[in-house]
Amino acid sequence: MKRKAFYPGSFDPITNGHLDVLRQSAALFDEIVVGVGVHPGKVPLFTFEEREILIREVTTEITELNETTIKVVAFDGLLVNAALNHNTTVIVRGLRDGTDLDYEMQMAGMNGAMVPEITTVFLPANPLVRPITATLVRQIAKMGGNVSSFVPLAVVNALNQKFEQSS
Ligand code: PNS
Repeated sequence: MKRKAFYPGSFDPITNGHLDVLRQSAALFDEIVVGVGVHPGKVPLFTFEEREILIREVTTEITELNETTIKVVAFDGLLVNAALNHNTTVIVRGLRDGTDLDYEMQMAGMNGAMVPEITTVFLPANPLVRPITATLVRQIAKMGGNVSSFVPLAVVNALNQKFEQSS
């Protein structure tokens, strides 16, 4: 049987923290569906298409090294429904610290209460990527800071382009 998981997030943009979770997931699952949450009321920095292209580009190495397929999809409703629609009952989430744990335990608990067959798998962040958040990456890049330790090169370039366009 194929082991399949749904890895949701905003990925605005994908960071080295997300890649760490994907690397760990590739050792556990045959197929990972990366679910890009699209919030109707929230304007992201990158469109879904831009996020999808970046995710595909920076995950090539992971899929080549492992026998894992990574698929990128958009979703805008309940996470549990998105996972079920993609034929999986496993949701993967990364944990950086205690604040993440509290929030993620609530989400996992409520998702499990809504759909009991859903299991959330928490993957601990590698210490090297623990402080990274996409929100801070966007903020640093917007203010002209160097984000190359936090995101892959393709994302650094995409951020530079984004903020050059808007200045
Ligand atoms: O990585 P992020 O940005 O924290 O991802 C957030 C995401 C997309 C996972 C979260 O907003 C989400 O689960 N959205 C779906 C809405 C939903 O199911 N809400 C109920 C959760 S208990």
